[in-house]
Amino acid sequence: MERLPYYQLLHIFSLLVLTAHTFMAFGNPDPVNRKRTMMITGIAALLMIISGFGMLTLYKIPFLTGWVIVKFFCWLGLSSLAGIVYRKAHLRGLLSLIALVLLLTAVIMVYFRPF
Ligand code: HEM
Repeated sequence: MERLPYYQLLHIFSLLVLTAHTFMAFGNPDPVNRKRTMMITGIAALLMIISGFGMLTLYKIPFLTGWVIVKFFCWLGLSSLAGIVYRKAHLRGLLSLIALVLLLTAVIMVYFRPF
């Protein structure tokens, strides 16, 4: 369990980086920045899932648990949004709303674990 705070730090920091760069893409979906954004959000998403699974292992929580599966789909959705906005810039208002809903849903899953 001494590894837990490292996973927590990695999970939250990569979440902040992923969210910040996704919203930067929404604010300025100029294709010039596409490659850089895809690289940063890709690495952040990878670190987030690694630390998520690391914590599941430490807590001995099975992946096939309701709240974990919901979080997994929130992660999948959030990770794909930056890539979408460069191709569909006119949808950025809707995409940022979707990002907020996915973030809220994932955080509700952590703190309430409804299933
Ligand atoms: C958009 C997606 C996600 C968001 C916003 C998110 C957010 C959070 C937050 C805010 C915490 C609480 C901070 C902490 O205890 O360190 C947390 C903890 C955790 N997350 Fe995530 N997470 C996401 C995706 C995932 C995924 C995909 C997994 C699993 C594969 C995962 C597994 C966990 C676990 C096991 C914990 C520890 C729960 C606890 O300490 O009670 N998360 N997450």
